[in-house]
Amino acid sequence: MRILFKNIKELLQVRNKTVSFVSGKDMDELPTIKKAYLLVVDGLISDFGTMKHCPSIEVDKVIDATGKMLLPTWCDSHTHLVYAGHREHEFVDKIKGLSYQDIANKGGGILNSAKKLLETSEDQLYQQSKIRLEEVIASGTGAIEIKSGYGLTVESELKILSVIKRLKKNYTIPIKATFLGAHAIPNNHKNNKEGYVKLIINEMMPLVAEASLAEYVDVFCEAGYFSVEDTEVILEAGKKYGLIPKIHVNQFSSFGGVQAGVKYNALSVDHLETMRDEDIEVLKNSKTMPVALPGCSYFLSIPYTPARKMIDAGLPLALATDYNPGSSPSGNMNFVVSTACIKMKMTPEEAINAATINGAYAMGLEKEVGSITVGKKANLILTKTISSYSFIPYAFGASQIESVFLNGIEII
Ligand code: NIG
Ligand code: FE
Repeated sequence: MRILFKNIKELLQVRNKTVSFVSGKDMDELPTIKKAYLLVVDGLISDFGTMKHCPSIEVDKVIDATGKMLLPTWCDSHTHLVYAGHREHEFVDKIKGLSYQDIANKGGGILNSAKKLLETSEDQLYQQSKIRLEEVIASGTGAIEIKSGYGLTVESELKILSVIKRLKKNYTIPIKATFLGAHAIPNNHKNNKEGYVKLIINEMMPLVAEASLAEYVDVFCEAGYFSVEDTEVILEAGKKYGLIPKIHVNQFSSFGGVQAGVKYNALSVDHLETMRDEDIEVLKNSKTMPVALPGCSYFLSIPYTPARKMIDAGLPLALATDYNPGSSPSGNMNFVVSTACIKMKMTPEEAINAATINGAYAMGLEKEVGSITVGKKANLILTKTISSYSFIPYAFGASQIESVFLNGIEII
């Protein structure tokens, strides 16, 4: 099956040689081709260039992209989209003045979602989650990571990971699964955190690994949740099972979680709303991708990840949604890209790099997606007629997407 996109106003994120991710000053460069064509053969990007060099070959379908931009789909490397029910009552409590921590201390938060999940069958959970997955694909996401972590018992954690497995099987979007048993301490281990860490390591992890239910392991390394020591014990155990770390750190406090992530070769360290100079320093020359989640900062009214400081220090940065019922009930990457520009002072070029190639790296998919490169999946966003690519973050809250393609097939 051959599809030819012709007369593309501008083809974005064109990378001829394989680039794993971009950092520092390079983040401000977005390679593009104006007046371009792109050829898709059997779901993969096969050729592209300027219209002057557009091949005259027989194809199955021609798409005229006059006035429109074509870019790789968004790569959302951090979500919790398999969850049960919602927490809009906590949202109202928050409006009335309670903080995220106050709500958690009242038995709300992650434990509230875990309670709802316990009462939800695997099939119901699948039905709820697939709606969210379809919704994010329609908003331009073409590769995604999904975490467990609202189970907190052996059965419930496996329930979530089984739902992720079923989503992988039934949808063509690349999905990576992360085991986040260490998301919160469940009530039955309230005064026995060590016991819960042991349960994660001795009972959950072997089952997760045996059934190949996750590629990554995550820990919520935060005051009141899991310490640096707990995090290291869990990451060490994960090593035995080949589970690569991708961890939640520095959301509310900074006490060595980033250092633990780098020490254990984490693929990514995510949140980073509070960053000390030494946290920035340790990330330099590491292979660990820092990931910012501006939807969470927006929703909780907490500080934004200091993107400017980090990029100016030469670091790479990825952007993701953190789609979850408590701190970011939105999986819309367009909003994330806009918010990164508006609130974190990232340039449109930096934000697009962070949401495509760097996001792909942050979930180990940089060889498959994240740029317009021959051999990568034809997971593409075709925009409406727009004046320039900066219009995408500028016109916040309004979708500039006309169509989304996965493996060259038009999904919307
Ligand atoms: O990434 N910070 C920890 N976990 C989620 C929020 C979980 C929740 O409140 O349900 C996050 O923000
Ligand atoms: Fe998260």
